[in-house]
Amino acid sequence: MSSFRIPKGTRDLFPPEIDRWLFLEQKIREYYSRFLYQEVRTPIFEHSELFMRGIGDETEVVSKEMYRFRDKAGRDLTLRPENTASLVRAAVENNFMEHLYPPRFYYIGPMFRYDKPQKGRFRQFHQFGVEILGDPTPQADAELIYTSVEFLREIGIDGLTLLVNSVGCRECRPGYLRELRAAAGQADLCDECRGRVAGNCLRIFDCKEEKCRRTVRDLPKILDFLCEDCRRHFDQMKDTLDQYQVPFRIDPTLVRGLDYYTKTAFEIISGQLGAQDALLGGGRYDDLFRELGGPDLPAVGFAAGMERIILHLADFSPPKRKKTMVIYQQPECLNHAIRVARRFWEAGHAALVEYAAQKFKKQFQRANRIEADFAVIIGPEEIRTGELSIKNLKTREQESIKEKDLTKWQKQNL
Ligand code: HAM
Repeated sequence: MSSFRIPKGTRDLFPPEIDRWLFLEQKIREYYSRFLYQEVRTPIFEHSELFMRGIGDETEVVSKEMYRFRDKAGRDLTLRPENTASLVRAAVENNFMEHLYPPRFYYIGPMFRYDKPQKGRFRQFHQFGVEILGDPTPQADAELIYTSVEFLREIGIDGLTLLVNSVGCRECRPGYLRELRAAAGQADLCDECRGRVAGNCLRIFDCKEEKCRRTVRDLPKILDFLCEDCRRHFDQMKDTLDQYQVPFRIDPTLVRGLDYYTKTAFEIISGQLGAQDALLGGGRYDDLFRELGGPDLPAVGFAAGMERIILHLADFSPPKRKKTMVIYQQPECLNHAIRVARRFWEAGHAALVEYAAQKFKKQFQRANRIEADFAVIIGPEEIRTGELSIKNLKTREQESIKEKDLTKWQKQNL
């Protein structure tokens, strides 16, 4: 065995699990194209400053979890821990708002966070995310949330809980944070949370310590401090979710782990995931464009953890396609077998020739291993008469057809 081992927190993806990934990726593309989203692919690494400015210096993601390195020219780079900041950078740099309409985008790809690995939590993980740029309305938030719930339902995942909140805006959040800090300063919190009070105070709502979980229930909640504009936005967003008949629970402690959110915040959680219960999360980020030096553009989006979705696709069985093994009786018949196999491949069908297993019996064993539906048998007699013997490996019936009729046979049987 090789002495090399996979790095901690990463995974190899291979069959049969990879079938679930291919299925999921295909469903994302198909589903989101219904709503006119277009795919965007940004680089795996960006200038570190983008994430520090975009996500926030004091977030756990930036302060503890970034895969940050210098390249040979001394540039300060980071493997992307998420894709929203990159998408905003790409949108400004390439002027998406001028050239791409509607400005609705999705992405699928690996993200990197130096997190403590456990069930559903990895250091290289995959997200798909969707973002609506330039739309300030609560209806855009509600449509986006509706698609996240409905998408999961369409791929067979039910029984999840949708949590929604509003995290306010530049106008109302500072007043709230003042109140929160004052109250949290007096409260019974763990050492780490006590340190958070002066800095990233909202993080105390995410603490898993029992003591803090109890304490935060009595701390002031942002929903009681929303300005008129944020309150109206939240109410209309909830009304529109009702229109979609999407059930939700208001969670005034849902604050999200990234600093760019304004107004709507939401998550979908699952009972099956233990501590890592969020299948997806997102919200509105009306200040991020400006924060990153772009125009004043509102936006809303979410990202889903694909590993966590895959864990929920338990009953999945991949679509099966018919397979044919092209079997040659003797090594002298191999070239003819290759010619026949080519007629399968070029007509778009799945077929295999076992070049190395020259024994007739061995080739049949291999046909069973790949669960082939048919074996096309080629021997000197078939070559002489211009015929093919075809055995249906499921029914064990065998027939002979003229080689020139192969296309017709394929149309009828594959
Ligand atoms: P996030 O909540 O940090 O948001 O991540 C979104 C989802 O990615 C999580 O709900 C979770 O399913 C998955 N995830 C996060 N970290 C890990 C990990 N270490 N291992 C496995 N899965 C993980 C964002 O990333 C935002 N960019 C979402 C967004 C888009 N907001 C607006 N637009």
